[in-house]
This record gives sequence, C-alpha cells and structure tokens, in this order.
Amino acid sequence: MEEQEPRQERAACEPKEAPEESVALRFQRGFLAGKRLRDLPWEDLEQILKNSEDSSPLLTVLQKHESMGAEPLEQLYEAIGDVLNTEETTQCYKSYLLPSGDAITLCESVAIISRGTTGLVTWDAGLYLAEWALENSAVFCNRSVLELGSGTGLTGIAISKACRPRTYTFSDHHECVLQQLSENIRLNGLFLPPETRGHGVAKQEICEAELPGSQGPEITIAELDWNLVTKDRLAELQSPDVVIAADVVYDPELTQSLIGILQKLSSCNGDGEAPEVYIACTIRNPDTYCRFQTELGKVGIRWQVVPSPQKKLFSYDQHANITILRLHV
Ligand SMILES: C[S@@+](CC[C@H](N)C(=O)[O-])C[C@H]1O[C@@H](n2cnc3c(N)ncnc32)[C@H](O)[C@@H]1O
Repeated sequence: MEEQEPRQERAACEPKEAPEESVALRFQRGFLAGKRLRDLPWEDLEQILKNSEDSSPLLTVLQKHESMGAEPLEQLYEAIGDVLNTEETTQCYKSYLLPSGDAITLCESVAIISRGTTGLVTWDAGLYLAEWALENSAVFCNRSVLELGSGTGLTGIAISKACRPRTYTFSDHHECVLQQLSENIRLNGLFLPPETRGHGVAKQEICEAELPGSQGPEITIAELDWNLVTKDRLAELQSPDVVIAADVVYDPELTQSLIGILQKLSSCNGDGEAPEVYIACTIRNPDTYCRFQTELGKVGIRWQVVPSPQKKLFSYDQHANITILRLHV
C-alpha cells in the first residue's frame, strides 16, 4: 500500500498566492457552492484586515462604523427579515469553478437526505475524486468511463468537461436521482437528444448523445442497481476501461452489492481486459472502511491507496477523511 502524501507539504512547493487573493478565492468558491455564511473564512479575512498596512476601503468603513458607535443599517435588518421569512425551498443551484474558469452548475437538494436518497446533493468525496481526476486526466483521456452512484453528477461532468474521455456513462439506481442527474447534465451543456426530453430517464432506458461538433464525449445515463444488475445488462453498456465511484462505501450491506457489480464488470469487458477501478471513500466509520477492505480481500480484489490530489479546487470540509482506492479487479 502506498503512503499518502500530506496535502499541505505538497502545496508548499507551489507558487504562493497573496493571502488576500487566496482568501478572496475561498470566499468566491464557498459562496458559489452555496456554503453557509458561518462556514466562509471570516477569521482569515479579519486577520488580513488587521494586518493590512494600507487602509482598505472596507477597513475604513468598519473603523468609522466602530468609532461612531453607529447603529447597523436598517436596510440590513430588513434584508435579514426578508430572508428569514422566505419560505423554505427544497432545491438550490450551486456552482463549482474549474481551473479553466468554466463553472459547473448543479441543481441540488438543500437537505443531505431527501426523497429517501443521499444522491440529490454533491458529497465531499465526489469533489475530491474530481480534483484527483483533473490532476490525473491521462487516466481518462480517450477512454470509456463508467461511474457508479453518480448522484447529482459533479464528478462525471467535471471529467467530461476537462479530461477528454471517449465515452462517459453516468449511472445510479434512484429514479429522482436519475432525473436530477439528467437535468444537471443538460444544464452544463452536455446535451441529450430531443426524443429523450420530457420523459426523462425511464427504467432500463439508456440515453445517448454526442456533444455538438463531437467536441466532447459520448454521454450515457443508465439506470444501474448494484443489487439487481446482471451481466447481460452490463454487456449492453459501453465496456468500460475505467470505473469510478465516490462516497459509496458507507453501508456494509451496500458494499457487498458494490463488490458484486465490480466482479461482474471484471469479467464482461469485451476485450478481456479488466477495467481500472477507482473508489473515493469518505471514512466516517473506520469499521465500515476496514470491512470493505476485508470483503475485497475475501474475493481476491487487491487494492492500493492512490496519492492525494495536490491542489484543493473546491470548497468542502478540509477535515473530511477521504481516500481514493485503486482496486485491481
Ligand atoms: C452518498 S451518494 C454519493 C453521490 C455522488 N457519487 C457524490 O459523491 O456526490 C451515494 C450514491 O450511491 C447511489 N446508490 C446507493 N445504492 C445504490 C445501488 N444499490 N445501486 C446504484 N446506486 C446506488 C445513491 O443513489 C447515491 O447517488
């Protein structure tokens, strides 16, 4: 098993951004990704303002405000009141900036679990796997990729936009997730053909589309339930060179069926070569993670930890314990 390199040590080798720029960028990313106000880097901002030698306009305003002992603006109170009185929404739009400056915008649920599924929000491991993919685009370039448990689609949309795969198959088992996924793919310019619009993703239906001008990969959305999937069903899909999944190791029952589909995939590739498999795991409960590894061992699947992405591109919990396993199926 390879040792994971600490992310901070690697970051130290990179060109340094001015602290103001880095904080401004973190505010921008956090704001676009719909972070709660209290999760934005206020303390770092305060530190910069305190250390700043030139009196920035913001600092001047703050100092003036403090020295006058002025009441906060009435309009501010009104605006807060409006926000508090607004009816709760169940969905929101979040944007994730890619290094190219392009943004991925996703419609997501505001609750982490809704309609009986975890698949309507983007999870930290999905963002982490996208960061890793963008730094390791050769793994995906000109290859056929199958993603299991795609959820809202962040990882796959990032790979489709930035890593030039030949084909990309998104998959999930939950009807609402498939519907949301399909809308998000369309929202980000990866179009589905007109005949599939309106009736969404019906059971067992596969939607295929090429991007205008054949610039991007051939996109497929497939309903795949790891518990029910058969080898024949997998044979209907583009045989994958690479299989990925993020945050799918959280329930011991689920890991059994996940391992089951990986075994089926190992034997149904047209050219007889097993696909490369990468699974990003958030380790919430070490027992669940260890059990996954034990179960892999029982069926003879070897695994190794791949080095962490060096650069943090997206805004998510910095303390989340996430690791990517490469499985040799
Ligand atoms: C925690 S979410 C992760 C979603 C996405 N990969 C991410 O990282 O944001 C787990 C995903 O696995 C899917 N899933 C759970 N059980 C599944 C099964 N038996 N077959 C297929 N997908 C499943 C869920 O619908 C959900 O989209």
